[in-house]
Parts: sequence; structure tokens; C-alpha cells
Amino acid sequence: MSAESTRPVVACRTNPNLGVLHRNRCGTRVFTVLGEDMQRVVDEQRLGYVASVCPDGTPNLSPKGTTAVWDDDHLVFAHLHSPQTVANIEAGNRVVEINVVDPILRKGYRFKGPATVHRDGPVYESGLRFYRERSGLTSDRIEAIIVVKIEYAAPVTSPAYDDGSTEPEIEQRSLEMYGLMRSRRGRRQPTG
Ligand SMILES: Cc1cc2nc3c(=O)[nH]c(=O)nc-3n(C[C@H](O)[C@H](O)[C@H](O)COP(=O)(O)O)c2cc1C
Repeated sequence: MSAESTRPVVACRTNPNLGVLHRNRCGTRVFTVLGEDMQRVVDEQRLGYVASVCPDGTPNLSPKGTTAVWDDDHLVFAHLHSPQTVANIEAGNRVVEINVVDPILRKGYRFKGPATVHRDGPVYESGLRFYRERSGLTSDRIEAIIVVKIEYAAPVTSPAYDDGSTEPEIEQRSLEMYGLMRSRRGRRQPTG
């Protein structure tokens, strides 16, 4: 898959909350920059599922709990134990897809674009600082910082909404399904 193929072709309108809305060749609505709501979901969830392509063309999908917003056009994750994802990118299959979904609200975003692996240099150093400050991750645990330029972004919503269910109703159903309650206390953050 080339980076070219992820590029939307027709700009339709701008929604500051979501990013710039386009329609691609298939008529699907896509967003090309990380809008406020996309950044909020990534900041809150932190867990992205990263799909890459192996040299033999087979898919490779794995979770990254270090998924974060790098800036308005880039996401980032840390290579702690991701040998295949990183090998795929370094082998030249640079385009990855990242899905970040709120499992309680059952909606989120899918992002796609070329990734760059930083094993040293200013971006690597800046990534180490970011994860140390955010999660207390020490630099000896981070082999590389992977920065993904987001060229495609689109919302993804569960068919659970198809019957007209509202967000509070879906939230309540999810909490019951998982046997959870909304807590007012601050959450502890995992580190990977
Ligand atoms: C919830 C969860 C979060 C994870 N977060 C990360 C992460 O941020 N970075 C990382 O390198 N590995 C992380 N891992 C481990 C990798 O997903 C795992 O080692 C995987 O097998 C790597 O596959 P890959 O080599 O195809 O990337 C996480 C695993 C789980 C279950």
C-alpha cells in the first residue's frame, strides 16, 4: 500500500471538532488532520491497535498502550516489545493503520499514514522525555519511537447505535456487560 493511496481527493467541509472532512474515491467521509475530538479520544484511551504489512503481504496487528498524539498531524507509539511492527516499517512497508476505540462508548477513530522509526536523534530524545513525563517509562525500556504522519482519519462507530440508541444508553449497557461502574476517582495509567 502506498502513502499516495491513503490521500483523500475531494475536500467537502471543515469541522474544527473533528478535523478537515473530505470524501475519498469511494464516497467515504474521511478526515486528514487530527481534530479536537480525535485528539481527545487518543489522549483518553491511549490504547491503539496498530496494523502493518509483513514482507510476505500478510497483515500484522498488535496493541500499543503508548499510543499518543504527537502533534496535529502525527500520532506516536513506543517500541517496547514490537519487533514485527518495527521490522515491517523498516522493511519499507511504512503505511500503518491505527484504530483507537472507546470500548465503553463503542466508538472511536481509525487513522492511516506512513510511519518513521526513530532509534536516536532529536525525535527519539523528545519521545523519551514525553513518555518519562507522562507515564514514568524509563529510557532503557524504549527501543525506538515511532511517529506516524496521519494522512487519513475516519470515525468508526459500532452497529449497536443502528437502532437509535444514545451514547448514555450504550455506555450503560457496556458498563453492565463488563460489570463496571463509572468512578469519580482519578485513574491510574498503565505504561504500555
Ligand atoms: C494492552 C497492551 C498494550 C501494549 N502496548 C505496547 C506498546 O505500547 N509498545 C510495545 O512495543 N508493545 C506493546 N504491547 C506488546 C505488544 O503488543 C506485543 O509484544 C506484540 O506481540 C508485538 O507484536 P509486533 O511485533 O507484531 O508489533 C502491548 C500489549 C498489550 C496487550
